[in-house]
Amino acid sequence: KGLFTYDPGFVSTASCESAITYIDGAKGVLLHRGYPIDQLAKQSDYIELCYLLLNGELPDANQKKQFETTITYHTMVHEQLTQFFKGFRRDAHPMAILCGVVGALSAFYHDSLDISNPRDREVSAFRLIAKMPTMAAMCHKYSVGQPFMYPRNDLNYAENFLHMMFSTPCEEYKPSPVLAKAMDRIFMLHADHEQNASTSTVRLTGSTGANPFACIAAGIAALWGPSHGGANEAVLNMLDEIGEDSEENIQHFIAKAKDKDDPFRLMGFGHRVYRNFDPRAKVMKETCDEVLAELGLENDPQLHIAKRLEEIALEDEYFVQRKLYPNVDFYSGIILKAIGIPTNMFTVIFALSRTVGWISHWKEMVSGDNKIGRPRQLYTGSDSRDYPSK
Ligand code: CMC
Repeated sequence: KGLFTYDPGFVSTASCESAITYIDGAKGVLLHRGYPIDQLAKQSDYIELCYLLLNGELPDANQKKQFETTITYHTMVHEQLTQFFKGFRRDAHPMAILCGVVGALSAFYHDSLDISNPRDREVSAFRLIAKMPTMAAMCHKYSVGQPFMYPRNDLNYAENFLHMMFSTPCEEYKPSPVLAKAMDRIFMLHADHEQNASTSTVRLTGSTGANPFACIAAGIAALWGPSHGGANEAVLNMLDEIGEDSEENIQHFIAKAKDKDDPFRLMGFGHRVYRNFDPRAKVMKETCDEVLAELGLENDPQLHIAKRLEEIALEDEYFVQRKLYPNVDFYSGIILKAIGIPTNMFTVIFALSRTVGWISHWKEMVSGDNKIGRPRQLYTGSDSRDYPSK
């Protein structure tokens, strides 16, 4: 001991310098390239945010149009990739499929894998941002046994995703503007969050010189866990488990979350960095109210349970002392469910949204002075000993 700084969970270790996203957890501030997340979520859109995260500045009208055209140019996936999907069991979790097919992209798009070439890096970024909705929707279509829907380049990013999710060759799905906007906002609120577990995984993987598709596949695997991106699915499962909208049931789950002998945690609550409030959660809650009002679901029992859980927790000494607040995923699942998205797709949607953040960090890292990531350890095993003679 003494040779290395010991920081389990990297609670106080900065692993890199970055100019992409700033978080002040004590004040509940989240800025992308200097712009507050609530202003972006209300005034911008996902495509513009992608440009901002990747390039550092907001696009002018021409730059935005050109960027949008480039992204739509890449929305289709290689037809052979459909065979890859068909190798999975129909009941596979869509995140399991996504890990596999995104990793497989490096087998299909190896014409842009020279990571020392800025143009190749850019093309890989465009391909990932453009193809993620297509592949995410394919995961869903495969699991419900429906034909894959090709992307429609006349639709915007969110509308096109919803089209590929819900249209069929027999019937075109047309989302209301409120639902399409809510989808776009969910993408925006998940777009980047500095050095979280999955982004750090992407950086660590990328530091070895691995190709961007392999790096993003590693990020997707890290995102899957319930402490990270899997939380949105876990919230809905928790609300399902609470079941009936009764005070007794809600209090029972609050008590479980506080019980140190019970591993259960209130899902969608708490954050490593935010110790005041998660600014994304505030916008998400407003969006949730808008979507449920649009659909006439204001009296949705799960929304009521979620709001009551939040009320109780915010007044309870256990949560107050530990500075535990609803995070981005406390309300996202209720919106996704109202849009008609099955629970097992929630984390896939997080992965789709976060792809731009991952690839922006990867690009920033490989464009600068990159040193291979190689943490050390405090060894706790046996001293050197002789192999027993036979
Ligand atoms: N319910 C009950 N107790 C909690 C919770 C919770 N959701 N979160 C933290 N605690 C308690 C924890 O037991 C500990 O108590 P004590 O000091 O008595 O031992 C204290 O609060 C500090 O917790 P921690 O585990 O040291 O905090 P962390 O920073 O390591 O973990 C977290 C952060 C997000 C993993 C955790 O709060 C959690 O598991 N939350 C539920 C899962 C969740 O919603 N994750 C999504 C995060 S936001 C989306 C994303 O970016 O991935």
